[in-house]
Amino acid sequence: MQSYHDAFTGANVLITGGLGFIGSNLAQRLVALGARVTLVDSLIPEYGGNLRNIYDIAEQVRVNIADVRDEYSMNYLVQDQQYLFNLAGQTSHLDSMRDPYTDLEINCRSQLSILEACRKNNNQIKIVYASTRQIYGKPDYLPVDERHLLHPTDVNGINKMAGEWYHIVYNNVYGIRACALRLTNTYGPRMRVKDARQTFLGIWIKKLLDGEPIQIFGDGLQIRDFTYIDDCVEALLLAAVTEGAAGQIFNLGGKETINLRNLAELLIEVYGNGTYEIVPFPPDRKAIDIGDYYGDYRLAQGRLGWRPQVGLRTGLKRTLDFYREHRAYYW
Ligand SMILES: NC(=O)c1ccc[n+]([C@@H]2O[C@H](COP(=O)([O-])OP(=O)(O)OC[C@H]3O[C@@H](n4cnc5c(N)ncnc54)[C@H](O)[C@@H]3O)[C@@H](O)[C@H]2O)c1
Repeated sequence: MQSYHDAFTGANVLITGGLGFIGSNLAQRLVALGARVTLVDSLIPEYGGNLRNIYDIAEQVRVNIADVRDEYSMNYLVQDQQYLFNLAGQTSHLDSMRDPYTDLEINCRSQLSILEACRKNNNQIKIVYASTRQIYGKPDYLPVDERHLLHPTDVNGINKMAGEWYHIVYNNVYGIRACALRLTNTYGPRMRVKDARQTFLGIWIKKLLDGEPIQIFGDGLQIRDFTYIDDCVEALLLAAVTEGAAGQIFNLGGKETINLRNLAELLIEVYGNGTYEIVPFPPDRKAIDIGDYYGDYRLAQGRLGWRPQVGLRTGLKRTLDFYREHRAYYW
């Protein structure tokens, strides 16, 4: 494993989407490592940003409520930063179909403005971009490695693909060190649970705690992999400090794969209570479904020294414990 402890002590770090699920968990870790952290987030209600996510570190971070679509804010915010974790995004696949222009603005156009802000104001910055497995679309083979063709099934996948490749092009052409992690379903404390906009697992957890049945679309045999949030944060930090990572793209993944029916059963077992029901796929979701997916993360393992450490049972337990205690702020 690479060591990043010294790299972040006293370092200026900017996190776009910093009040969201992954951004706020990353901020917690960076504060513990002694970094000077600035969070930029628009707090649009439909997205995962929540001030509660940072209540325990609020005094130790700078928060800038701004929109990454605003080039003037970004021109200012990237100055003097050593690291940029670029996590701001519109995450709902369904919303990207209903309102493709907003997805285009945030996931595609803004990424270019962020990179332009870096090129003009701070070309020494190191960037890690949060990409997604969604850009592969319906897999041609499993596990999916980074050489798999990109053929997204929805507008979100297309825009995230472009967002990712702007980063690689700015690395290759302008020498702004940037890399991308293709995240798979990430879960844990501070994720959005009030609806399925971020991940279906969020709404499953809410339903379970509300005493309602979990709904599984289709036959429940779809296979997925899951990354626990602490493992995701670890990958982001390793990617930022690994010199050879610049210009590279890495899949993340999970310790195990599981189909949705077995996942619901595991969740209910860990919680100690609950039921699930199998319901037909809503047509708008079926049209963009990707079938079975799990990723091959051997490249990240070899180049970053990363591998998932937290298994599903442990991760689900920690997540359920968190929402039992903090539900008032996330419902
Ligand atoms: N959670 C996952 O399973 C997952 C999987 C694949 C990729 N990702 C990617 O990781 C990143 C972080 O996702 P997350 O799960 O933490 O979601 P999230 O919704 O909790 O975080 C995204 C944050 O970005 C902010 N944001 C959105 N538009 C913005 C804008 N225009 N200006 C400023 N801030 C804006 C939101 O308010 C939110 O706080 C996203 O780019 C997402 O595409 C996440």
